[in-house]
Amino acid sequence: MKIEIKNLKKRFNDNFVLKDISLTIEKNKSTIILGQSGCGKSVLIKTIYQLFSFDDGLIFYDGKAKVDIDKFSMLFQYGALFDSLKISENIAFTDFINNKTNFNKKVISLMNDVGLDKSIFNKYPSEISGGMKKRVAFARALYKNPKVIFLDEPTTGLDPINSDKINELILKVITKRKITAVTITHDIKSAIKTGDHYYFIDKGIIQDKGDCKKILKTKNKAFKSFISGADFKQ
Ligand SMILES: Nc1ncnc2c1ncn2[C@@H]1O[C@H](COP(=O)(O)OP(=O)(O)OP(=O)(O)O)[C@@H](O)[C@H]1O
Ligand SMILES: [Mg+2]
Repeated sequence: MKIEIKNLKKRFNDNFVLKDISLTIEKNKSTIILGQSGCGKSVLIKTIYQLFSFDDGLIFYDGKAKVDIDKFSMLFQYGALFDSLKISENIAFTDFINNKTNFNKKVISLMNDVGLDKSIFNKYPSEISGGMKKRVAFARALYKNPKVIFLDEPTTGLDPINSDKINELILKVITKRKITAVTITHDIKSAIKTGDHYYFIDKGIIQDKGDCKKILKTKNKAFKSFISGADFKQ
């Protein structure tokens, strides 16, 4: 799905978070959103997902203002798993809470897709590692076959090796399943590796945008300073 955002404005009382955001999310591509903590990245994707209303501007989903948000899925920034539910129940959460029981086959196939061994099917989140938890959260986001997936800092809290593995996995799955992906990250290396287009937000507007493979060639001062602050090492 192609999503076009024109002059989007969003505030919370007198906190003008998104001042004037225009961007395009291309169909079946990987779009990366970058910016300092608190600049409004999570608010932006939640607004696109229609979890928040907005004050001004336009959002078109495949050219239309209306969209069936069932086509969307989100891996939330602090989207922890439900500790009291088994891994399988976490992945099939939407069916599980609706008392549906025939999800085992689908869960096993998804676990296979995200590189999780079936032996953890009946385990609880406290019994698996941080990297495995991210895979479970990703499998849960894929469960409803989304057309668009929003990933809010999918590698936060992981060491560089596990971050690389998760990034590779995300890229492989979204390419294979032809999913439009919007990823928020602080990680420049991830952005270069996994992204097609990037947008850098600062002070409520898009300060820089372009091809992820050319991030390090940016001439934008604010973005350059963000990159050096990110302590990026190639
Ligand atoms: N539900 C809310 N009600 C009021 N203010 C909010 C709400 N959600 C976010 N904000 C405010 O919007 C601003 C942007 O927050 P947001 O979570 O989008 O930042 P972010 O760019 O995702 O930061 P981080 O990188 O730390 O996750 C902050 O000032 C925050 O306090
Ligand atoms: Mg955030």
